[in-house]
Amino acid sequence: MTDDERFAMLFSLMGVNGVIQARDPRIPAGVPMSAGYVAGVPRLGVPALIMSDGSLGITNPGYREGDTATALPAWLVLGSSFNPKLAREAGALLGREARSRQFNVQLAGGINLARDPRNGRNFEYLSEDPWQSAVLAAETINGVQAEGVISTIKHYSLNVNETNRHWLNAIIDPAAHRESDLLAFQIAIERSQPGSVMCGYNKVNGVAACGNDHLLDEVLKSQWGYKGWVMSDWGATQNWDFALKGLDQESGAQFDTMMWGDQYFVDPLKLAYAQGKLPKARLSDMVRRILRSIYAVGIDQWGPTPKVDMARHNQIALDIARQGIVLLKNDGVLPLAADTPARIAVIGGFAQLGVPSGAGSSTVLPPGGYASVVTVGGSGIMAGGRNLYLLPSSPLAELKMLLPKAQIEFDPGMNPAEAALLARRSDVVIVLGIRVESEGFDSPSLALPWGQDAVIQAVAAVNPNTIVLLETGNPVTMPWKDSVKAIIQAWYPGQAGGQAIAEVITGKVNPSGHLPITFPADLAQTPRPELAGLGTPWGTPTTVRYNEGAEVGYRWFAKTGTQPLYAFGHGLSYTTFVYSNLSITGGESLTATFTVTNTGQREGADVPQVYLTHAAGDTRMRLLGFERVELKPGESCSLTVTADPRLIARFDARAGAWRIAEGNYSVVLGRSAVAPVLTGAVSLKPRLF
Ligand code: BGC
Repeated sequence: MTDDERFAMLFSLMGVNGVIQARDPRIPAGVPMSAGYVAGVPRLGVPALIMSDGSLGITNPGYREGDTATALPAWLVLGSSFNPKLAREAGALLGREARSRQFNVQLAGGINLARDPRNGRNFEYLSEDPWQSAVLAAETINGVQAEGVISTIKHYSLNVNETNRHWLNAIIDPAAHRESDLLAFQIAIERSQPGSVMCGYNKVNGVAACGNDHLLDEVLKSQWGYKGWVMSDWGATQNWDFALKGLDQESGAQFDTMMWGDQYFVDPLKLAYAQGKLPKARLSDMVRRILRSIYAVGIDQWGPTPKVDMARHNQIALDIARQGIVLLKNDGVLPLAADTPARIAVIGGFAQLGVPSGAGSSTVLPPGGYASVVTVGGSGIMAGGRNLYLLPSSPLAELKMLLPKAQIEFDPGMNPAEAALLARRSDVVIVLGIRVESEGFDSPSLALPWGQDAVIQAVAAVNPNTIVLLETGNPVTMPWKDSVKAIIQAWYPGQAGGQAIAEVITGKVNPSGHLPITFPADLAQTPRPELAGLGTPWGTPTTVRYNEGAEVGYRWFAKTGTQPLYAFGHGLSYTTFVYSNLSITGGESLTATFTVTNTGQREGADVPQVYLTHAAGDTRMRLLGFERVELKPGESCSLTVTADPRLIARFDARAGAWRIAEGNYSVVLGRSAVAPVLTGAVSLKPRLF
């Protein structure tokens, strides 16, 4: 391979999108427009890389006319399903749909921890917990790569707020980082070997994530032995010398030029090479890593294009929504009987049109197009993509189909007094609360916008049978919680979301989703009641201190002894489950064995969760494992959860190793992080590994 051929593989070009309007002449005709194009080396049979977003389906921000794809639910829905098998199916779906469009790299695998309930991108992530995130992300990546398509894992690391993300300095204790966000990456990488790691926009402890020798060279490549390549996020390469600190490939080169001007990557890199500042061995290493992943995943071995069964893919989107919708509260009003003749009011949330999706680079154009798009906008580079996208799966229409005898009326929920008029003459009210959450923006508060709280309050004041249906990408506050009978968290439920919502409401589907993120009562309970940088103009250098360290989400609530609004792991069912026979054994790690029995009248799925609560005298809450089980009425099953030892250890920064201290370790088997059912304990011997 010549040096010119090598350099040509070290950057990708972005196809047209909302920001870069013209097709770059360096992208050969016939190559589909994509998020990134990397030249191959035809002389040597090295394929070009053609990259597409994303995790939630194959995106098309308007540059491939008419090309629609399966719009999956938000990853928080997949997280709520606690179902690794579904994650695998979602990944395989992404791989097949990518491949049928010639995309051989999928920018999937978003695994940042949902540390802050204001983060506008939490809908793209799975959970606030490292283990849960890792297990599910790994299965998605495995699904993508089994179809012969390279997957990324992203955004490495601590890109957990969107405010001024290119100028955000994320401060964290390095050992705590290893026990949280980095642990999620580490375990997911071990379990799935993604071809590429995408580094984030932010700085970590003062050093750009994409030029971070410690994170890229020391931790990822050296300590973890990662063999694939590191690509930057689009607009995250600020200097050629990032190549000396672990970055292997610049992404969306035009974006960097636009953001950082003359610091464009490859030309200065060539100069540095000519001047002896970039060693030949490093140049070879950068290319070798890309080639390794090409051959490890086999994107050079593609046979005929697989046929994509879009009906089957819709079924996968539907299954994720069915298993990921969370029933938060139910004072006996749900499910609504299929033959009910009740007068039912459906209020707000554009329920007559469809369900919202999250916004940004992950937004997918669904089959048939959007039901509607409302431009939202704002400041900064992502403003153009910040819209209310409604996927054409109307909860109202689906409810009418499943409740043929009911009299269902709709009110847009624009005016509390008008909504109350309909609510007063109805037997049951289903009132929606929605939010637009977008890449590039954090929410200033946890409240529902546009006066929706006032609508819910007005409705609940006149109708005792009020059900709230939330379609949001984050936890919200609920000032009306005690005056409504039921609350359903449907997140952004994807292209079949309206159907899944109606099935849960009518009991055709027994809800089984569990929260993968804690719902705080208010921001004062969270580690950062104030978010640094909020309200400053786009581009303001911002420092966010993640002083909670590894105590993210439910761990923070346990540490501070605070009661959340709804806890991590919480989720109700229309049946009941009983736990028994818990036994805990020690040794190298911790193993919990227990029995789950469905004691109710209906078939249903449960997600028993095993937590560490105390470790050698320390309050330390850690999800050690979970299982999702489907049980018929009266049926039991015995389950075993063995903890990854890193979940019970602390990272000893000085030793550069995990340390289990000698002492007693308490474990609970629970229904959520605050609902212990059975407890046990073991004593463990000291260990460094
Ligand atoms: C996002 C990435 C995405 C990339 C390419 C960026 O704005 O942060 O997640 O893969 O765009 O579209």
